[in-house]
Amino acid sequence: MQLMKSSYTDLPARGPVTDLLKPDETLDMLETYGLAVTQSPSATVSPADAHSEMAAIRADFGLGEPYVPLLYRGRDTPIVTEVTRKGDSDHPVFHTGEAQGWHTDGLLEDIGTIKTTLLYCVSPAYRGGRTFLLNAGRVFEELRTEDPEAADVLMRDTILGRRSTIPGVNREAVGPVFAELGDGHYATRYGEGRVERWYPGDAAQRRALDRALRHFRMRRDDPDVRIDLLLQAGQCLIFRNDVLAHGRENFTDDPQSPRLLMRSLHTNAPKNTS
Ligand SMILES: [Fe+2]
Repeated sequence: MQLMKSSYTDLPARGPVTDLLKPDETLDMLETYGLAVTQSPSATVSPADAHSEMAAIRADFGLGEPYVPLLYRGRDTPIVTEVTRKGDSDHPVFHTGEAQGWHTDGLLEDIGTIKTTLLYCVSPAYRGGRTFLLNAGRVFEELRTEDPEAADVLMRDTILGRRSTIPGVNREAVGPVFAELGDGHYATRYGEGRVERWYPGDAAQRRALDRALRHFRMRRDDPDVRIDLLLQAGQCLIFRNDVLAHGRENFTDDPQSPRLLMRSLHTNAPKNTS
């Protein structure tokens, strides 16, 4: 796998992703960039179409059944979640069209647990709603070269807590921001939003952490390590949640046709099953 060494400069950095790839190139894309977008053969799609196409994608890439995150266990959450402004999920971000900061899915899971996220667009927003993806491992690799002390802090087992923002659910999981995968790549839990709590052990670690986070803020808008995608109806974004961080632009809904995306999470990485 080359994905952490690759840049996104060969891909359109902003705007629609139509023609981003042909279906037979999906696995190559995933292995090179950690992301791919499939396109439905139908011009308009229903939620039922989305379910059946997502099932086909799961089978094609050996993703297995969707994984229910620890945060939602015992809460009657469907395994394929509707992501809308006023969806059936009780996750706060799904109630709003606000931007969603950088994060990885799986708030309470150990680093690297949720390897793949599928986001299927049934209906885009009236305006906005782009998904951002960041090659976090490559930004981290740069930091390791430029400032090893700052990079080491991000690998500490107790540096980052992620806390539930669901009312009445008082849970937090602590772990590293990056962990070596053993093949020259890194798993990540990088994020900067409303759920993170940082736990540097002393003043020196706090200073190193500040430098590390500053490095990410400086680098994360560079199209060489980031891609912004505006999913259209019938497009499914497949991405490696364990190695890429992601976020979302704010959006405005047309009440007649509100934004509707379907999401499923998987503990398998995509692989060739043919
Ligand atoms: Fe997410």
